[in-house]
Amino acid sequence: MAYANSTAEPYILHSVVLGPYISTGASEPVPRYNQPVDSSTVVILDFGAQYTQLIARRIREFNVFSVVLPCTASIDSIKELNPVALVLSGGPSSVYDADAPKADPVVLQLGVPTLGICYGMQFMAHHLGGEVTPSDKREYGDATVNVLAKNKLFAGLPAALDVWMSHGDSVAKLPDGFVEAARTENALASIADEKRRMYAVQWHPEVAHSKQGTELLRNFVLNISGAKPNWTPESFIQTTVERIRQQVGKGRAICALSGGVDSAVAAVLVSKAIGDRLTCIFVNNGVLRKNEFQQVQDNMRSKLGLNVVAVDASKRFLSQLGGITDPETKRKIIGREFITVFDDEANRIVKEQERKAELKKEPAGSEIAWLVQGTLYPDVIESSSVKGPSQTIKSHHNVGGLPADMKLKLIEPLRDLFKDEVRRVGRDLGMPEEVLERQPFPGPGLAVRIVGEITPERVEILQNADDIVVSEIKKAGLYKQIWQSFAVLLPVKSVGVMGDQRTYAYTCAVRAVHSEDGMTADWVPLPYEVLKSISNRIVNEVRGINRVVYDITSKPPGTIEWE
Ligand code: XMP
Repeated sequence: MAYANSTAEPYILHSVVLGPYISTGASEPVPRYNQPVDSSTVVILDFGAQYTQLIARRIREFNVFSVVLPCTASIDSIKELNPVALVLSGGPSSVYDADAPKADPVVLQLGVPTLGICYGMQFMAHHLGGEVTPSDKREYGDATVNVLAKNKLFAGLPAALDVWMSHGDSVAKLPDGFVEAARTENALASIADEKRRMYAVQWHPEVAHSKQGTELLRNFVLNISGAKPNWTPESFIQTTVERIRQQVGKGRAICALSGGVDSAVAAVLVSKAIGDRLTCIFVNNGVLRKNEFQQVQDNMRSKLGLNVVAVDASKRFLSQLGGITDPETKRKIIGREFITVFDDEANRIVKEQERKAELKKEPAGSEIAWLVQGTLYPDVIESSSVKGPSQTIKSHHNVGGLPADMKLKLIEPLRDLFKDEVRRVGRDLGMPEEVLERQPFPGPGLAVRIVGEITPERVEILQNADDIVVSEIKKAGLYKQIWQSFAVLLPVKSVGVMGDQRTYAYTCAVRAVHSEDGMTADWVPLPYEVLKSISNRIVNEVRGINRVVYDITSKPPGTIEWE
């Protein structure tokens, strides 16, 4: 796919090339993390498991700050974070593989409580003098683990645990100082050296299928490691606002608002720091939802107090999209036009600002030098981080596809946060639920939900149908539980009958999916009553549609969007 942001925030700043008025030089290094000054940080070393981000999220749920580093991170970079504990993640390799991730075994000598998970357990055993061998019986999926030694990791947990396993190798010989702590009927499932505060489990406590997993992680993070639960929205807001204030000084910033959660929370944080020296630009690309251009402006101005410049460029976008049916070409056109519009607007604002500053004789340094982006933590870490730190740095600079010659410096106030944390921060900032609970909406908007040609007429048809889907789902109280629910306009016309009239009109597909992050999704079994009212209303109220179908495809093999 051609887009970078899997979390679907409609951020289409693929490549902002800002004009000649903005010339403040290259980006200065910004502090890596926004953790509270006296924070307890848990460092998670990523050996390439698909669940590593989940470990970080679980730990954050205890209000403890956690950071994912590639397993190849240098010992110095780990020490810099002053971790109170270390978690070694799972991974797809065997410790004997030639291309097994190369982590420095010195991580096991740091003297902080350490928890090995799956591959992490094998890494620990292998490098501390134990032995790892291929299992006679591989274990994948649900399993029962019997606790043999009631150590601190299992405090308060039952003697038999329901866990989720995924491993081929097992620990066959314990390293010195370790004892067997739990077994499945096939293999050793947990080992521990309580004196050194080193623990390891063969299963994945971070996944929901491991029923007592959260309690186990809580025991490790809060009880064994004594981490302070001070990673709260309040402390995050305080440190972030203070940091932005210092960074920006007397300067000014601009931000592209999409109407989505991420850009709105990012903008509110920055405006809390620098007030109306932040200018937000909101562009109507002609493929927004019904009334969205006006609603977003109202919300952002009156409810969030932001300084918003709204640009209605819908005609220009729609004329460029005319006659185009290829999905990727649609995306490219929208991305390209957006950049041009944003660039023009930014330059206009900068010039105006310079004129005003000259009149008021303001000191140098008060010009627009900053661009706010709503980059989130998952975009920064990427599971490819296991390939090495350089890879990670590269990938996070690429977030949003900003070109190397961009003259604005970036402020990314959300780059340490997961999506659910962004919502918590937004709530603490007093932002309305209507903004915070908005379902993700793709940057190219309705363009990728109008299969086939985009015409002003077809946009309007889809806007009306989509509005009905969203309002019926809200009415049924389902909006918040569903990841995305929307209508798709198909290029298929079929025959119908209305009153005594024969109709020949478009078909509309309704789609609703549950998902954690947009990477995989399950279709939602919407109640028949809801489907019925959606279908009745669309056929009766939307001129141009005479048939409604429901999409019952999960991802994979389908995608969430139809294009
Ligand atoms: P797919 O259709 O790939 O979508 O299953 C996964 C998630 O990404 C969103 N999406 C996009 N977001 N620009 C975006 O900002 C895009 O071009 C784009 N295409 C898909 C989609 O809404 C879903 O949440």
